[in-house]
Formats: sequence, structure tokens, C-alpha cells
Amino acid sequence: MFYPSESWSFALAVMGLGLLSLSTNSAIVKAAVLKPETPLDSGTTILNHSMSLVQRLENLFLSGNSSDVTLRVQTINTDEVKVLQSHSLVLSLQSDVFEELLLSRNSSILVLREAPDCAAVFDKFLRYFYCGDIGVRLDQAIPLHKLASKYHVGALQQGMTQYMTQHLSSDSPSGHVVSWYNYALQIGDAPLRDSCLQYLSWNLSSVLQSAEWGSISEELLLSLLQRSDLILQSELELFEALEAWINQNQPVDGIVESALRAIRYGMIPPQQLFRLQKQSPLLLKYYEAIRDLLYLAFQFHSASPIQLAKFFDVNCSIFTPRNYLSPSWGSSWVINNPTRDDRSFSFQTQLGPSGHDSNKRVTWNALFSPRWLPLSARSTYTELGAMQPTRTDGGRPRIIVTPATSSPDFAGVSFQKTVLVMAKQQGKVVVRHVYNFHQSTEEAGDFLVDADLQRRASEYLIDSSLYLHVVIKPVYHTLLVSRK
Ligand SMILES: *[C@@H]1O[C@H](CO)[C@@H](O)[C@H](O)[C@H]1NC(C)=O
Ligand SMILES: *[C@@H]1O[C@H](CO)[C@@H](O)[C@H](O)[C@H]1NC(C)=O
Ligand SMILES: *[C@@H]1O[C@H](CO)[C@@H](O)[C@H](O)[C@H]1NC(C)=O
Ligand SMILES: *[C@@H]1O[C@H](CO)[C@@H](O)[C@H](O)[C@H]1NC(C)=O
Ligand SMILES: *[C@@H]1O[C@H](CO)[C@@H](O)[C@H](O)[C@H]1NC(C)=O
Repeated sequence: MFYPSESWSFALAVMGLGLLSLSTNSAIVKAAVLKPETPLDSGTTILNHSMSLVQRLENLFLSGNSSDVTLRVQTINTDEVKVLQSHSLVLSLQSDVFEELLLSRNSSILVLREAPDCAAVFDKFLRYFYCGDIGVRLDQAIPLHKLASKYHVGALQQGMTQYMTQHLSSDSPSGHVVSWYNYALQIGDAPLRDSCLQYLSWNLSSVLQSAEWGSISEELLLSLLQRSDLILQSELELFEALEAWINQNQPVDGIVESALRAIRYGMIPPQQLFRLQKQSPLLLKYYEAIRDLLYLAFQFHSASPIQLAKFFDVNCSIFTPRNYLSPSWGSSWVINNPTRDDRSFSFQTQLGPSGHDSNKRVTWNALFSPRWLPLSARSTYTELGAMQPTRTDGGRPRIIVTPATSSPDFAGVSFQKTVLVMAKQQGKVVVRHVYNFHQSTEEAGDFLVDADLQRRASEYLIDSSLYLHVVIKPVYHTLLVSRK
């Protein structure tokens, strides 16, 4: 449930309009210049009965007393009709579309044609006109958004978009994000579309295991497969999910080939590639379509990537890692009471995904400071002497991730680091933020700038702890830009 704050002003407006229409009828022109009360006058006490006014309006809606318009809601392509008694004043107040319809009507009956999903929630929609609040379930979001858009009920339309953005991670038996994505695409709502796409990309592992995965469109599948910011266990997990999707949807060969060519085979260890090549029915069938990529991947695994780049001109995404959560790519890091003091943490990753490098380990040191002050700011405090920084004063959260040792093996490799910050949404852990930084900077400049870690209820904390996951992505530059 959400309660738009306008119920009170809405109720006032109902009364105001009522007076206005009276005044035009009875020619008391003075009533037309009624000013709204200014409740801030000193010595004025507000008696607030707005709740009971809304209650009366709800009773009016339920009883249909004094109705001057009958809505006949016909379900398209059926003979189902829902008859609702309503009031033209209330309808026109919230919707200029209704205002137009009421002006051009011939009788006290207004015939409306709605799709079945919209017809099913029409009384709920109409109740909102009277009460200004509405209870929404996941499966009602699209039809209510459609009705609010069709009848120009702006506040409800915005409220529904906001509801959808905030309920992407809610539990639903068969999933809802994909259908919300398709709807957003269809109506051209780019912010909602992007929120859905980001949720799907950042929570891909759980999406891949859900019933919803099989229902995603070819277009959405291909656009997800292009992304480097996907967060998932491993590239193999993505391949297997793609296999399941293809088995279920049986798309035309062209789609299968494009999808298979978007898998980053270089990121799959050679032992697993052998198995896929010989045992995956899908790869056996489409082997010719990706033979060049598999060959390239095996070459990549067989020697130092630097050696490879000396002899071959390669420029393609199969060597670009995504955000993999499996242990060879990084580590999670839970920081209890993050504002207390600085923390450090060590973990190991593979030197690189190439079969040549994956047995070599790199040890990383991560340092987290809750209130780090740049040197310039610190000296200001010393000069001012008495003015000590308070606990909450100045400083910003900082994270630095550096290799514990250097090695000649690092030549030609740049380690891109990504820090995922988890949060709880609708009782579930979701990725709240993704910070990317590169070897040349060692730290992410905007790390947690908007997170108020002092607040126990900060949306960046889970049970007063900061849940991080650091991903190290070795990128072989020589393989990514073609050499001339
Ligand atoms: C009147 O009460 C309602 C509900 O209790 C509240 O939402 C509203 O802000 C109040 N209005 C004023 C003017 O105080
Ligand atoms: C509707 O009108 C009937 C008859 O005039 C009356 O008895 C009833 O109380 C009214 N209901 C509401 C909710 O005003
Ligand atoms: C009103 O009546 C006229 C003539 O009877 C008809 O042409 C028109 O379609 C009607 N308009 C509506 C909104 O029903
Ligand atoms: C979102 O992704 C995170 C990390 O991948 C995972 O821990 C979490 O369970 C996912 N949440 C949902 C609701 O899918
Ligand atoms: C490398 O490939 C990318 C993406 O396919 C392309 O945008 C870029 O221009 C290519 N670079 C060179 C140097 O060919």
C-alpha cells in the first residue's frame, strides 16, 4: 500500500470545486475568488478531519449515492460488462480524459472498452479517484499503469513506475521483471526499462535459475549477452543457461549463432571447454558457427597472452571478463560496524583466466577507511588547532585494493577492480551499487559518497554491516586493441 500525501489537498479540492460549480449556477461571483486557507496564521488551530472526509468519499464510491454517470466497462473481445456508478465531478477532477468524455457524452451512461487485465482492476482504479490511495500487487502493476496512462492520472502513473522500480526484487512465483521490461520497452519508458535491465544484469545468477529466464525475448537475451557488467558466477553458468533457453525456445539458426558467438569462451577454463565441445549437444550441432572462437580460446589458454598477441591480431570480447563471483575472480568482504575504524583484508585471485596464468596466484590487500581525509583537509584541521574533527565530521569512505607483491608476470596485464555493494530490498540481498576502478587509480573516487554509513538504517547496510564483493578482472590490453 502507499498513501499519496495528496489525500488532504484532494479532499479540499473536491470541496472547492463543489463550491465553484455552485457559485456559477447561482451567480454569486464573489465565491469564485475563494482563497485557500493559510494554516500558518499564528493563533490558528487546525481541526483535521480529512481522514473522515476520505472515508465519506469512499462510502460515496461504494454506495454510488447521487451518482450522475454510469460507467459500463466492457472487456474487449468478450461480452463481459462491469457496471459502476460514479460522479462526473470526481472523474473530471482527476482526469482530463474523463472530462472530455463526459462533455461529449449523450446519456448518463459512459461505455469504456478495456483489455481483460485492465477491466479486472477497474474498480480498484476508480476507488483511487475517490480516496487517493490504492493497494497494489505485483501482477496488477502493469494494468494499473496502463489505466493511469490512458486516462491521464499523472500521480498514479508516476506512483506505479516508482512501485515497479522499488519492487524488482520482490518474490513472485513466475517472475515479473521480464514482463515489466517488455512493457517499459513497449511504452517507451526508458528509466523503467533501464532499471529492469540493470536488475537483470546485476542479479543474473538468480534470474538464470528462475522460471522467468525461459520467457525472455530474443532481443533481451541478445542485449544481455553483449554486456560486460553482468554479475554471475562464471561464464560457464551463462553458457549452460543459454543452452536451456535455446532448448526451450527453439529459435531460428541465426539467433542461436549470434547468441553462441556472444559467449566469452576465453573466460571458460580449457578443461570445461573440452567437455562442452565433445558433450554439449548444442555445441556439437553448431560447432561450425563458433569454430573460430573456440580455436582462438584454446590458443589463448595455451601460452602467455602476451606471446599470443605478438603473432595474432585479435580484437574481440571473448577476452573481456564480466563480473564473476566465483572464488578465482575475487572475494566477498563483510565489514561489521563500518564506521568504527579502518579495516584491511587479504585475498587471492588467479593471475589471469588464460590456462597459462590461472595457476599463478596474486595476493591482494584491500583497505577500507570509513572517514578518510585527503592530506590538504587534514592540515587545515591542525592549523586551526582547537577545531578537532568530530566523529561525523569530514572524511569520506575510501577503499584501496593493491597487489601485495609485484611480479614480472603482471607485464601487459591491467587489473580492473570492481566493488559490488549489496543491500537488502524487500527482504532479499541485491546488488545496490557497482564501483569500477582501474590499476592507474587504485581506488574508486566516488566510493559510497552517497551512503550515510552512520545511520543504522542506511540502505547500504545489512544488519549494520557493509556487504562487499571485490572482483579482480585481468585485462590483456594487447589483446583488446588491434596492433598496427
Ligand atoms: C490531517 O490528517 C491527515 C491524516 O491524519 C494528515 O495526513 C494530514 O497531513 C493532516 N493535515 C493537516 C493540514 O494537518
Ligand atoms: C445512500 O443513500 C441511502 C438512501 O438515501 C442512505 O440510506 C444511505 O445511508 C446512503 N449511503 C451513504 C454511504 O451515504
Ligand atoms: C451522440 O449521439 C450522436 C447522434 O445520435 C452520435 O452520432 C454520437 O456518436 C453520440 N456520441 C456518443 C459519445 O455516444
Ligand atoms: C542479487 O544478486 C546478489 C549477488 O549476485 C545475490 O546475492 C542475490 O541473491 C540476488 N538477489 C536476488 C533477489 O536475486
Ligand atoms: C575493436 O573492437 C571494438 C568492438 O568490436 C571496436 O569498437 C573497435 O573499433 C575495434 N578496435 C580496433 C582497433 O579495431
